[in-house]
Amino acid sequence: KASSSGSYTDELVKTAKSIASPGRGILAIDESNATCGKRLASIGLDNTEVNRQAYRQLLLTAPGLGKYISGAILFEETLYQSTTDGKKFVDCLRDENIVPGIKVDKGLSPLPGSNNESWCQGLDGLASRSAEYYKQGARFAKWRTVVSIPCGPSALAVKEAAWGLARYAAISQDNGLVPIVEPEILLDGDHPIERTLEVAERVWAEVFYYLAENNVVFEGILLKPSMVTPGAEHKEKASPETIAKYTLTMLGRRVPPAVPGIMFLSGGQSEAEATLNLNAMNQSPNPWHVSFSYARALQNSVLKTWQGRPENAEAAQKALLVRAKANSLAQLGKYSA
Ligand code: 13P
Repeated sequence: KASSSGSYTDELVKTAKSIASPGRGILAIDESNATCGKRLASIGLDNTEVNRQAYRQLLLTAPGLGKYISGAILFEETLYQSTTDGKKFVDCLRDENIVPGIKVDKGLSPLPGSNNESWCQGLDGLASRSAEYYKQGARFAKWRTVVSIPCGPSALAVKEAAWGLARYAAISQDNGLVPIVEPEILLDGDHPIERTLEVAERVWAEVFYYLAENNVVFEGILLKPSMVTPGAEHKEKASPETIAKYTLTMLGRRVPPAVPGIMFLSGGQSEAEATLNLNAMNQSPNPWHVSFSYARALQNSVLKTWQGRPENAEAAQKALLVRAKANSLAQLGKYSA
């Protein structure tokens, strides 16, 4: 058989296209319980299931969210949860024409033999978990592995990251889930933007090599790259125009236009930076659909506004819609601050 995606090929292509629809992007709220706990702690809330549910309910029931958001990445707990009124979160999403997605990796672990780098866990049992998630309503998946520039990256870490992503992508497609391929190149470091470009080109070259080797259908995947920026501790900041130029150079050299959507992560950029950089990339026509899959850059002001108080919930939902709309305009290249 020509692909690993079996009978799901048409559906995968359709799902990926609908997530990559004009003026929309992905709301990433797939923080593990531990990471969600850190977000809640920042506003003085305990990391309980009730508080995580309240927070996710606020986000997923924001009225009119589907105008700007095409997909939402959930953590496993959220995929099986309902609102306090008993409506399944996946149904809340479907009513807004938002595709439910699921984080399927099991997090990072030290990679022996490398330069203090890590690798991503989660291939064991992935096929059966993916089949269960599909039954529960998920139609896309995410696997995030990381590459660190200050730690190397070593050839071993890059190869492992690329191979893991490719195996995950093939298994996801085989079970009807569109894989988001996310080798996050961390912002940490004092390196210049040219160094980030060099590393990104190496990483994406290997990722596509192994995706092809695993017979992954390119029309049925989505990418979640880091933008090409200078390291966070580099002495000079880059303008959105420079970041756009380098990032589009990377895509041009490494990403086939068959890939239906490039959904950037925010990676610790501020909300404003993430929007301006996306907008800059969409100032002139390009062969891809360049959009967003932001977690922090969509949630920071929501958390600040909410503070865990029910009386602030409506204002917090409005804060989410403000960011979502700004990024929707940026996807169309029409945002102005
Ligand atoms: P950030 O946008 O906060 O970097 O999150 C990316 C991510 O992978 C969440 O799904």
